[in-house]
Parts: sequence; C-alpha cells; structure tokens
Amino acid sequence: MLTQHKIILGNSQQMRELADGSVQLMITSPPYPMVKMWDSLFVGEAPRIEALWRKLEADGEDGTVAQIYDAMHLYLGEVWRETYRVLVDGGIACINIGDATRTINGKFKLFPNHARILEICEKIGFTTLPYILWKKPTTKPKYKGKGAFLGSGFLPPNAYVTLDCEFILLFRKGNLRKFPTKDPQRYSSAFTKPQRDEWFSQIWALKGIRQTASELERRSAAYPDEIANRLIKMFSVKGDTVLDPFLGSGTTVSLAILNERNSIGYEMDPDLLPIIIKKLAGDKSNLAPEIQVIKR
Ligand SMILES: C[S@@+](CC[C@H](N)C(=O)[O-])C[C@H]1O[C@@H](n2cnc3c(N)ncnc32)[C@H](O)[C@@H]1O
Repeated sequence: MLTQHKIILGNSQQMRELADGSVQLMITSPPYPMVKMWDSLFVGEAPRIEALWRKLEADGEDGTVAQIYDAMHLYLGEVWRETYRVLVDGGIACINIGDATRTINGKFKLFPNHARILEICEKIGFTTLPYILWKKPTTKPKYKGKGAFLGSGFLPPNAYVTLDCEFILLFRKGNLRKFPTKDPQRYSSAFTKPQRDEWFSQIWALKGIRQTASELERRSAAYPDEIANRLIKMFSVKGDTVLDPFLGSGTTVSLAILNERNSIGYEMDPDLLPIIIKKLAGDKSNLAPEIQVIKR
C-alpha cells in the first residue's frame, strides 16, 4: 500500500493544515512539565512561564511553583484541544507522559503530570480509557531527591520511591468507530492472540532508547519503536492516518510507514529534521512511502 507522510515544521498548538475529523489516531510524548531538560522549551515558547520563574526567584512561594506548573500544562492543553478537533468520531489519543520529582527552594515534591493531563483531556471532552504503565529498567533509587541511595537511605522515614514507570494515557473522542461488515482493511490489520494478551495487559516492561544515541537524539527524548509499533497496531487499521503533534526524532512516522498507515508529524525544532529524515531513510521495507516536508 502506498502511504503518505507529512512532516510539518511548526507549532502544533495550531494544526491549521489539518481539517476537523481527519485523523484516526494520535500517538505522542510531549515535553514533560517540571522535568529540567524541558524548562528552556517551555520558557522559550510561553513568555508567561519565564516571567513566573523570575517571580519565583524573588518570592520563593509554593503558589508561584503551582502557577508555573499550571502554565506548562496550559501550553500542552492547547495541543490536546487541537487533537480533539482533528480526530474522527471514535478516534483514539495515546499520550506517553512521565510524572516529575523536583526540589525547588529546598522542598522535594512530586508533580503528577499524568493526573493533570487526565483532568484536562476530560474537560476537553475526551473519554478516558484504561491506561498502560511503561516500566523502564530500574534506575538507582534516590535519597532526599538527589544522588544515589546513601547508607542513611536504609533508615525510615525520609527516603523516596523511585519513578520507574511512565504512563501511556488512552482516550477516545466520541463513540466507538464504525466499520462496514467484514471490512478488508480492518481484517488485514488483525493482531494475533499472543500479541493481544501481551499488548492489552497493563504493564509493559520495555527498555528506553539506547544510551549511545547522539546528543541531539537524546534531546528529542525518543520513545522506543516498540511503543509506537504496538499502539499503531492496537488502535488503527491499515490506511488510517496517525498524528504525532510532538514528533521529536520521527519515531511515530517511521512506525506508521512500516505498518502501512499514513501519518502527520509536527515538530517545532528544525534542527531535528536531519534526524527525522535519517530515521525514515532507515526504512528497508520497500514500501516506497511518499514523504513531504512542510516548513511553515
Ligand atoms: C519528548 S519529545 C518527542 C519524542 C518523540 N516521541 C520521539 O520518539 O522522538 C517532544 C518534542 O516536541 C517538540 N515540541 C514541543 N512543543 C511543540 C509544539 N508546540 N509544536 C511542535 N513540536 C513541539 C520538541 O521540540 C520535542 O522535539
């Protein structure tokens, strides 16, 4: 099947290239609020967030921290709202997100990003479905929020649980998707019983991307191919269109190609284009996809 893929270098808070109800599946992993590596992105994109960090330096108030966290989710919320608009009735949205822990002004705390996104997406109108926990190989537990567990980490009560799971939140827009009886595209997209048993269980134990990835690739915080592969097969049929509004290194588009789905990816950072192109060129499947790059 000849499939079509659009890489749009631009901000997905407005997906003006996409008509209402034109996408069957959205899969993405956004920048994670309150995770340090994404601070500069939020600051660069939302002047209010920069002003709030400066306010925090001056007042050190917990309330200002809460305002920064709210503003970061407001930024992502614009993309969830646009996603709702472009999904078809019955379309599915899959959001990979990790919670964050952080010490600010000497106070260590959890920022439960997954809970905030659930709330925001419900308000937009999405129906929340049971989610998946992506269990990553365990990293060293932390003591007082920094460094490795020290000897004193064996003494109660001041050590912290390590965040070694991320969430894959699942939502539906509207009603169940309808198909004609014995629809050939749907039947040719069926998964096997072992796949169904593994993929529809709640915990996925999968490795992250390799540590040898280039600096730029690491900056894109790619998720493993297997995450996009499973979600595409679970929630779309051949010939559907898959959207990733935070494309990063291009993982979602590359797996859409291999699974004979069309795709659209938005990425704001033009420096990632060579990495995306390299990833797509690595496809050895002879599927000859049509790839278009649109610079806004
Ligand atoms: C966590 S990364 C995505 C990683 C991706 N799943 C992969 O496998 O490579 C988030 C990406 O979203 C991009 N981004 C952030 N805000 C954006 C926006 N409003 N529009 C488009 N891209 C955005 C960032 O530049 C970053 O590359």
